[in-house]
Amino acid sequence: MGYKPVSAQRQTRGRGCRPVLVATAFVSLLLFYLHRSRVSSYPDLSVTDDAVGPFCPDSALQDDVLVVLRTGATEALEKLPVHFDTTLRCVPHYVIYSDMEEDMGSHHLYDILDQVNETVKNTAPEFDLYKRLRAQGRRGLYYQTVFGTGPAGAVENPGWKLDKWKFLPMVERALQHRHGAKWFVFIESDTYLIWPTLLAYLGQFDAGKPHYIGKPMLIGDDLFAHGGSGFVLSRPAAERVARHWRAHEAAYDAYTMDEWAGDLVLGQVLRDAGIELLWALPHFQGTSLDALDWATAELDKLAWCYAPATFHHMNKPTAKMLWAFEQRWHRQQHAQRTHEPMRYRDIFRGLVRGQLRADAWGWDNLASGIAEYRADTPMGPDATAVERQAPKSRDKCHAACLARPSCLMFSFVPGSCMVSDELRLGHTATEQCREYSGPAGKCVRWSRDVDAVATGWDKGKAKGKDSVRSGWMLDRVQKFLGQLDARCTSPEGNDWVLNRYRIL
Ligand SMILES: *[C@@H]1O[C@H](CO)[C@@H](O)[C@H](O)[C@H]1NC(C)=O
Repeated sequence: MGYKPVSAQRQTRGRGCRPVLVATAFVSLLLFYLHRSRVSSYPDLSVTDDAVGPFCPDSALQDDVLVVLRTGATEALEKLPVHFDTTLRCVPHYVIYSDMEEDMGSHHLYDILDQVNETVKNTAPEFDLYKRLRAQGRRGLYYQTVFGTGPAGAVENPGWKLDKWKFLPMVERALQHRHGAKWFVFIESDTYLIWPTLLAYLGQFDAGKPHYIGKPMLIGDDLFAHGGSGFVLSRPAAERVARHWRAHEAAYDAYTMDEWAGDLVLGQVLRDAGIELLWALPHFQGTSLDALDWATAELDKLAWCYAPATFHHMNKPTAKMLWAFEQRWHRQQHAQRTHEPMRYRDIFRGLVRGQLRADAWGWDNLASGIAEYRADTPMGPDATAVERQAPKSRDKCHAACLARPSCLMFSFVPGSCMVSDELRLGHTATEQCREYSGPAGKCVRWSRDVDAVATGWDKGKAKGKDSVRSGWMLDRVQKFLGQLDARCTSPEGNDWVLNRYRIL
């Protein structure tokens, strides 16, 4: 697969702006370096990227793929623009399905719920939101003030509850939307798609056979591809879903009414239609780039050796950062005439490693895993003097990490020291993450008030961004990377995951 700049028009426009951009880049870099002596922040790689337009894969397969982005009126304005500014610039065929018909700039959002059975619409309470949207457009949203996302956010969010009804109509409509498409790739508004990798991966399969490919999720006995991590159906699989759904529509309506997630409902239809899920781990990634443990292994496969096709829970700055890196990486590959897939280890070395520091202020690296030393929690009789001191200062927390040979990183706020044998990037933070919940994509924290009482943490004294300090044991990390590399020598280390994996 080769690469080419996306359009001559964009290039020309880019060239005209270049002196301004170079000046902007210089000032930004200067500010960045002045700034980073104290406050950690993401490097602004995007400045150079926009000067020449996106660099996109030149793959014969790209016209065979329809990317389907599923969203809702409660989140579209906030979460879609970053897709238009990054990955979708390289995707020739995509469609956006929502719970309200509207235009966003030059993009059209289709109402995918319009064909849901009227009886359902009049029975399921979540359709109150839908009816309001139909009657009043965006004004219909104002009666609701707080919207979360996903099962761990606001389960009561009517936008979230509506979402489960989109999955089956979405598959049928996607088939009609692009008759020539052989593959349908379904993503959500916080899914980051690594388009060149996905194309290379799909190129390994026979599109004429039914395929259902994604990150497996098991709830009770229900196995399905996790929606937020993105998943793929080949045309024969999508056709079977649409047929099977329409043939048993009332039953699936009843089933959807009782279940809470649409990806689960779709998984059930696929199972009923006799199509098994390919467990595409670690290509479809349920965690975001900043929260990922880079030593993670799934189904005995060390992610480090493989190429991710998606990340989930990606916020705007992280998506922009990865896009800028992706662009730089593919340009480099093109210049060197090599076309290796961009593996986890490439992303770590090229993007993450340079951001790890011995002492990062206003940054939480999400350290957890070995121990949490807290001033307000009595330690057992076995605790060493170093461990007892750990919650007292950043340096004492660092010493506690040093005393544990497997410790790679730590995070500190007055009264609490977390040490970890995992390797994560993390993000800017004013509060310490005590435990990271992967499926929810959220940090579990003490509430501020509990923290304040328990640890003597003083809101007035904590200076905003400086309230969390993190550090990585850089020499240990260096050695650790060598150990990870050494585990990529197995023959399958460089391969795509193509075989089914069965639980029983
Ligand atoms: C809608 O669902 C109800 C209840 O299952 C059913 O009786 C009715 O025929 C359905 N309507 C259509 C148009 O399919």
